[in-house]
Amino acid sequence: MTEARIIIVVAMAENGVIGRDGDMPWKLSTDLKRFKALTMGKPLVMGRKTFEAVGGKPLPGRPHVIVSRGPKIDMPGVETQASLQAALERAKVIAHASGVDEVCIAGGGEIYRQALPLCDELHVTHVEAVIDGDTVFPAIDPALFELVEEAAFPAGEKDSYPTRYAVYRRRAAA
Ligand SMILES: NC(=O)c1ccc[n+]([C@@H]2O[C@H](COP(=O)([O-])OP(=O)(O)OC[C@H]3O[C@@H](n4cnc5c(N)ncnc54)[C@H](OP(=O)(O)O)[C@@H]3O)[C@@H](O)[C@H]2O)c1
Repeated sequence: MTEARIIIVVAMAENGVIGRDGDMPWKLSTDLKRFKALTMGKPLVMGRKTFEAVGGKPLPGRPHVIVSRGPKIDMPGVETQASLQAALERAKVIAHASGVDEVCIAGGGEIYRQALPLCDELHVTHVEAVIDGDTVFPAIDPALFELVEEAAFPAGEKDSYPTRYAVYRRRAAA
């Protein structure tokens, strides 16, 4: 099997906002279901603050690699690495052992910023609104990433906003 690809999975508002006060500034049930389906069985790499934001315990069915310079988080299905590079290396080893071909970067802002230059693909839920927040995703450079898939979703009963799901793939180096 070839080395696992690195994919970023993120939901962001039109102004790039992804978080506010340590949480996400919306309720998007449709997107949570898509996130679950996309990431199931694959290693999730996330920053320590995002791990706390999701409740401080692993999401079922996905091995977690938490990036933190602090104390190791000791619980089944979770390991801690002191750098993003080390976390990605471990996630790739776990992916290989699990027979999956992708590792997923699940945020938050600090981790996305550092992972953007390293990722192969971005799975972005564009939240169709301008939203106040304190954490943002960096601009996606169309010279580096090509839009390969796009679909619009009206707001369902349990969604705060309509969304547009888009997949961007890193262009081959010239
Ligand atoms: N909309 C979305 O799709 C989405 C997804 C995920 C998260 N979020 C939101 O994003 C926000 C959290 O993002 P954030 O930027 O505040 O935090 P974060 O990226 O989740 O975590 C930051 C922490 O990661 C560790 N870290 C970061 N870079 C590191 C490195 N190079 N080496 C070692 N450790 C490193 C540090 O942990 P230590 O302090 O322990 O050393 C740092 O405090 C929340 O509001 C959350 O809800 C949104």
